[in-house]
Amino acid sequence: MKSPQLVAFALAALSGVINAQYEKSPDMFRAGRYESGEVHMELMARKKATWDRQIASGAMNSSQYKSHPVAAAAGPVKCIDGTAKVVPGDRLNTFKCKNIDFYDFVSHADLGSKRGEGSSSWGWTAPNGHEFVVIAQEDGAAFAEITSAGKLVYLGRLPQSKGAAVSIWREIRGYKNYMVIGSEASKHGVQIFDMTKLLSIDPAKPVTFATTDVTALWNGLPAGSTHNIVVNEEKEYAVAVGAQPRSSTCKSGLIFIDLKDPKNPKTLGCASGDGYVHDAQCLVYRGPDTRYVGRDICYGYNEDTLTIYDVTNKNTTTIISRTSYTGASYTHQGWVTNPQWQEFLVMDDEYDEYDGRGPAASGYPITYFWDIRSLSAPKQTGYYKSSAYGIDHNQFVVDAKWAYQSNYGTGLRVLDVSSLSADPTGKAVKEVAFFDVYPEDDNTAKGGVLDFVGTWSHYPFFKSGFVLVNTIERGAFVVKRTDI
Ligand SMILES: *[C@@H]1O[C@H](CO)[C@@H](O)[C@H](O)[C@H]1NC(C)=O
Ligand SMILES: *[C@@H]1O[C@H](CO)[C@@H](O)[C@H](O)[C@H]1NC(C)=O
Repeated sequence: MKSPQLVAFALAALSGVINAQYEKSPDMFRAGRYESGEVHMELMARKKATWDRQIASGAMNSSQYKSHPVAAAAGPVKCIDGTAKVVPGDRLNTFKCKNIDFYDFVSHADLGSKRGEGSSSWGWTAPNGHEFVVIAQEDGAAFAEITSAGKLVYLGRLPQSKGAAVSIWREIRGYKNYMVIGSEASKHGVQIFDMTKLLSIDPAKPVTFATTDVTALWNGLPAGSTHNIVVNEEKEYAVAVGAQPRSSTCKSGLIFIDLKDPKNPKTLGCASGDGYVHDAQCLVYRGPDTRYVGRDICYGYNEDTLTIYDVTNKNTTTIISRTSYTGASYTHQGWVTNPQWQEFLVMDDEYDEYDGRGPAASGYPITYFWDIRSLSAPKQTGYYKSSAYGIDHNQFVVDAKWAYQSNYGTGLRVLDVSSLSADPTGKAVKEVAFFDVYPEDDNTAKGGVLDFVGTWSHYPFFKSGFVLVNTIERGAFVVKRTDI
């Protein structure tokens, strides 16, 4: 994202010195708006306006959404002829779907939150095979177990750090038997919570942990806030990305946190070279680019570029490449299709539908495909255009085959991306399943809205196949595919 010439250029443009270069390349003007944080601020303000409107209309009062809408003993509500009728006759509990059944739902209120407003989520499988989830909300992280019957059982919660305000931006990633929790609220720090504490909880008596019940609270952030958290479990570190302010030493880039001793996390250094990083995936490189085999690589989603770093030495990281693409509006998040053989990745841009840019001009979400067989010259080779009108947000690839996506108002969508190695254009990529958690927008002209409603995130990596979907307004769903 960062480029001093572009900043100088944008400043010149702002001061009225519009030169020929700008006319030739309007994107150069845009680059300055990323660099300054203006685009990100604008996006956050638009989301805040949506959520304020949802609060005013009462939609964020999660107690109105009935938890466990089907009896505990009952099986799943099957997706039949394109709908799952969870509460027959109730439009807001009738979900459009394909190849995904409904198992359970619990509201944020019944997951112990006074504020609601769901965001991130993650999962942990205990040594005995039991599956636990963490569900982010404005005022903390809720813990629950998904039973073998697919029921969501609330166990307790960890409130936001002492002295920090509430914030919808709470991001969670797993590290061994811990959860690493960051927040956009200043003075929050990064909480490291030991999930084995859940093993002895009686669900009849959920536990609200004290903020001091964490294994550690890491306070190495410039202002205590971070936009997102990334984990490289193999290399035993976490990364705080997008930690404000942009003027700090690490420039809101990748800040590495050593987790070898989770009780005593340490700062390892940072990668400031491309400025603000919105999200990233850090992996030991395994793939065809022989120059980097065994190196520690981060794929950075940096607002207007895919930026690939070699972070093997945390103090002297290098940028291998920085590449933009047609339609770049807000490069948001992505995932390598196969961490064991890194040849392709899928990426979403959060603002291209809203902005009406590039392939997303008509407002249908675009999943961008990248050929990363050369880390120094990645190529954006094609895309998949969803037929469900809305905005895309977060995606993770399971078994090198299925891209599970949280696409706000259009819900959980699943693409089969296994054809990419044979056809990098993505023409053979297909949507194989979906569950639309947000019926509120179904009756609109396009059957959806370009807005920040519905699902923020999901966790698709459980062996059981249960997928947890965390929604902004309602609470958490448990669903499962029927086609695998
Ligand atoms: C939230 O919804 C519940 C259930 O419908 C209702 O009883 C309660 O009064 C609502 N709270 C507010 C603040 O509107
Ligand atoms: C790396 O950076 C950290 C944090 O700034 C510092 O404490 C450490 O001494 C540095 N290590 C090396 C090898 O330079």
